[in-house]
Amino acid sequence: MDRRTYLRIGLVGGTASVIAPNAVLAGGGFEPLNAPIAGTFYYTKDAPGRWSKKVGGHLPTIDKSGNIIEVTTGHPMKEFDHYIVKHQIFDSSFALKGETMFNPLEDAPVSTHDISGLSGLIYVMSVCNIHDSWLNVFEV
Ligand SMILES: [Fe+2]
Repeated sequence: MDRRTYLRIGLVGGTASVIAPNAVLAGGGFEPLNAPIAGTFYYTKDAPGRWSKKVGGHLPTIDKSGNIIEVTTGHPMKEFDHYIVKHQIFDSSFALKGETMFNPLEDAPVSTHDISGLSGLIYVMSVCNIHDSWLNVFEV
């Protein structure tokens, strides 16, 4: 490979890796509940995609008491065959702020998280081992 070809490939690769994050996160304008990837990459109440009959058992709900939130997914825990793998909490910049992994032999898909210091939109993700990831949001 000559130097010119190497530089061309390097620029294309570098451009792709720079453009993708900017396109997704530009100016904080990314709205995950209305994004084109809602309903394909992850699922929401209004974009359940191929799992349109699974909203009730997969969309996480949030109860807030002071600085503590309780996240619940109304999903059965059928041992390792079909269960909720985890809950994740993200701040308004999509930084991971909390995560709870579940043991389907012992746990119910309920987690608590301290949201002290967080404000604005908080995103909650629930992950099923069969029916993928479900996103909900609330504001503090
Ligand atoms: Fe499921």
